[in-house]
Amino acid sequence: MKQLMTARQLKLAVLASGRGSNFDAICRAIERKDLNAQILVLISDQPQAPALAKATARGIEALPINPRDYSGRDAYEERLVRELEARQVDLVVLAGYMRLVGKVFLKAYEHRVLNIHPALLPSFPGLNAQQQALDYGVKFSGCTVHLVDEGMDTGPIIMQRVVPVLDDDDQETLSQRILKEEHELYWQALQLIAEGRVWIEGRRVVVKAD
Ligand code: GAR
Repeated sequence: MKQLMTARQLKLAVLASGRGSNFDAICRAIERKDLNAQILVLISDQPQAPALAKATARGIEALPINPRDYSGRDAYEERLVRELEARQVDLVVLAGYMRLVGKVFLKAYEHRVLNIHPALLPSFPGLNAQQQALDYGVKFSGCTVHLVDEGMDTGPIIMQRVVPVLDDDDQETLSQRILKEEHELYWQALQLIAEGRVWIEGRRVVVKAD
């Protein structure tokens, strides 16, 4: 069994494509000192992403990197990796980053990229997970923090939270209920890593007592 990371103050980079509410929730946890980490940079693949403005407002470096400016995914990810390495980032936190992570990125940051997904994986990977859950008719859904591998939302699961699906839910109400849990779950998973308590063997992640 391998320790994901020895105990430390985490140096994070957050990658976000949109709104950035998970980014904000992680920032608040750091401010409250619930999470022992610092965010060195917020990177977005969408130059207009509200997450960039949220970072700037908090005094965190906001860096747009537009994949369209590169010849392909490898070249784009080489730039990403250069920026991450220049800042000596420990962990990369995907927070609403709507792009598959490729081999260049994963080779440089194996077991060091986390994602949050708004469903109980392996159910409902990919886009519109909340609507997928409604369409299927499940009675419970939730959110998952997992390590990123080359698949679509397929990496080893670190933590999950369950929420009920109510009869009168629509995509908006279910998404809100899940999002509230996401905002708690992500920093808690990160804090367990900061405490050096997260271990991995194959697909299984184990959280050890202090
Ligand atoms: C969150 O619900 C996150 O779980 C989801 O996008 C939203 C981003 O919100 N991510 C995915 O669906 C990834 N497959 P935010 O920008 O407000 O954090």
